[in-house]
Amino acid sequence: MQYGYFDDNAREYVITRPDTPYPWINYLGCEDFFGLFSNTSGGYCFYRDARMLRLTRYRYNNVPTDAGGRYFYLRDEGDVWTPSWMPMKSALDRYECRHGMGYSKISSARNGLAFSQVSFVPLHDTCEIHKVTLTNESNIDKRIDMFSFIEFCLWNANDDMTNFQRNFSIGEVEIDGSRIYHKTEYRERRNHYAVWAVNVPIEGFDTDRQTFLGLYNGFDHPQTVFDGEAKNSAASGWAPVGSHHIKARLAPGESKTFVFVLGYCENHEDQKWERPGVINKKPANTLLEKYDTPIAADKALAALNEYWKSLLGRFTVDAEDKKMARMAGIWNQYQCMVTFNMSRSASYFESGIGRGMGFRDSNQDLLGFVHLVPERARSRILDIAATQFPDGSAYHQYQPLTKRGNNEVGSGFNDDPLWLICGVAAYIKETGDYGILNEKVPFDNNETLADTLFVHLKRSFDYTVTHVGPHGLPLIGRADWNDCLNLNCFSKTPGESFQTTANYESGVAESVLIAAIFAFTGPDYAEICRRTNRAEEAEYAEKAIAKMIEAIDQHGWDGSWFLRAYDAYGKKIGSHECEDGKIFIESNGFAVMADIGINDGRARKALDSVKEHLESPYGIVLLQPAYKDYHLELGEVSSYPPGYKENAGIFCHNNPWVTIAETRLGRGNRAFETYAKICPAYREDDSDLRRLEPYVYAQMVAGKDAVRHGEAKNSWLTGTAAWTFVSISQYILGVRPVFDGLMIDPCIPSSMKGFTVTRHFRGADYHITVDNGAGVEKGIKSIMVDGNYLDGEALKKAVLPVFGDGKVHKIVVVMG
Ligand code: GLC
Ligand code: GLC
Repeated sequence: MQYGYFDDNAREYVITRPDTPYPWINYLGCEDFFGLFSNTSGGYCFYRDARMLRLTRYRYNNVPTDAGGRYFYLRDEGDVWTPSWMPMKSALDRYECRHGMGYSKISSARNGLAFSQVSFVPLHDTCEIHKVTLTNESNIDKRIDMFSFIEFCLWNANDDMTNFQRNFSIGEVEIDGSRIYHKTEYRERRNHYAVWAVNVPIEGFDTDRQTFLGLYNGFDHPQTVFDGEAKNSAASGWAPVGSHHIKARLAPGESKTFVFVLGYCENHEDQKWERPGVINKKPANTLLEKYDTPIAADKALAALNEYWKSLLGRFTVDAEDKKMARMAGIWNQYQCMVTFNMSRSASYFESGIGRGMGFRDSNQDLLGFVHLVPERARSRILDIAATQFPDGSAYHQYQPLTKRGNNEVGSGFNDDPLWLICGVAAYIKETGDYGILNEKVPFDNNETLADTLFVHLKRSFDYTVTHVGPHGLPLIGRADWNDCLNLNCFSKTPGESFQTTANYESGVAESVLIAAIFAFTGPDYAEICRRTNRAEEAEYAEKAIAKMIEAIDQHGWDGSWFLRAYDAYGKKIGSHECEDGKIFIESNGFAVMADIGINDGRARKALDSVKEHLESPYGIVLLQPAYKDYHLELGEVSSYPPGYKENAGIFCHNNPWVTIAETRLGRGNRAFETYAKICPAYREDDSDLRRLEPYVYAQMVAGKDAVRHGEAKNSWLTGTAAWTFVSISQYILGVRPVFDGLMIDPCIPSSMKGFTVTRHFRGADYHITVDNGAGVEKGIKSIMVDGNYLDGEALKKAVLPVFGDGKVHKIVVVMG
């Protein structure tokens, strides 16, 4: 069953009933201030860091699901209801939620009263705007009481949920007309406060949660609203909230609009106070003045729309297959921007207090947004590289506020260094900016250890070269891309983190995946060396790569597929010899991506084996057979019940590796099949099983061994976003940035008659039409650039030149 539909012209997903199988959310904000916003107005917001500077409270894993958000309660002559459905689960005569690019709109109606709420974070300001309109659609006068409601978080979200002996005594607010200020801890070391304001005079307010709700009541029964009268409570300790009481008289057909703003404000250390005990409200005044009319709010929304229009204008797709077109052209890129902003910190599955920015994750995310915000990708690269250790290894995570490596998680994930090369190569191919290599970047955040970014790349490369095991394959360390393949961990203590527990370094456990990543990304390093006059280094690199490929050939091939690893005893993992875990997806996808075995049939065999053993209706599972029991020598991978997560779940992140690998073999039909199976738009009418948003990728879909095969979890913050975008845009549609320009190399289903892509690239716009009247899967017959055919070598290379002239160039490609 479907719970909505795509409105492609508006770039919106329209949810048509509120009781979606799970909260279907959106993200507000694209710079420093962010909100998570569900289809029933649930969620929370924060400034820059979801853990340290959270403005509103959210209870994860709460009962009922998704209680808490920015709520508006309506009292229509004694009839109390919530127009966003939650938290009262009110019966509505009409309901719709439109999630768009950086904004959401909820509209509903009951008993002749219509409600609409437009929520977004304006560009360049640190606040959420909620523009609320009430319309009397009946033919009698209506007297409405409206109550806004938010619950403040005491800033540090972790403390907020744990340190009650302190927290229940520190809550403080100030009320000034229609503005409610949350100033907990402002008296001491904080120099920031929150403000929750509305642009009209109010009848009354409440800031004490219990007074507002009534003793033992939930959000679904706020006594104050039922009474129809605010209590004007001033919070002192316990739980500060913000509620405005507004009275609106509406004649038949009349509308009234209110602008609510929830803002974050900072003062200089020496300007904190207006007078003793009274906060300096200047920054709040400045902010609120900007958005104090509906017209001002509309203008800010229009500017936000322009921003997204121009951003997504950098890569657009048109094709008969609307599902693919809307995902590749709109939602996939949108999700990539969200992963850019959030990394893995805040979603409905990530609590915003746990994980910082991943070294590996952030480098991979970059592959999906570098074409959208190249300058920001540049500074992201420099931030990430600054957390690298002098020996080339890396902190696995770093904190977004301080940009410092996270000691709690430490290092030892031996694939990490290579992702830096992968990210930097993608950045240079996109921009042609080799200058980034000369930037001085600290090691371990220590300025005195700074060296050029090029040196960082070299250390990354060398780390793999110098950390090999008995078969000449890279040592896995704590784990590789698969965080859960913990071959040196041997954990027996319940609850111990597999990722941080002391590692016994066997010096034996090796990863075929890291070898394949090295074979895939190493050549880019060599190429970068050549192009920057480092011929000797290039030669050294090429030799090291050849040696690694030899090691894969000799010790990484199992007969019908690529092995996955060797454990701490030197025993094979991912081999037909194993009882469980005979075949894994990752090494097979990546080895073929690196073109290993293309010429001798092994690549084809490996991918056929993947299809034979790992395929399911909802995507390719990570391994088979699933581990039935916990294996001390394998770690977390075997800790999951069969079919979930890394233990044979459909870990979507690695499916596009197989998609890309299939395009290396020219199998466009199969490549597209693997693409579509995990693409959420194709499962829109299967939402009762899939449960999560049909417009974004999930990290995992339960695999064939799982009880709930086909059910998705962990939507939004996943490397799936970047990799699927790479697979569809660069390898299926085949518009691929390379060092020399824009390569055209489509590999599509034979039934696809053609498509159009517009691509902004190094200062020019490429309008590319691909004609597949011939019905092939791969191969180009002709390319016309601005009316002239490419021929000979140029046609063979199929690389469009860098124009950089700010103009539009017409490219016509005929496959055949
Ligand atoms: C999670 C992690 C990612 C890892 C993957 C597989 O998605 O964020 O870093 O590669 O799991 O374990
Ligand atoms: C767990 C998850 C894995 C994730 C890791 C992050 O191991 O299974 O997917 O990458 O946690 O710390």
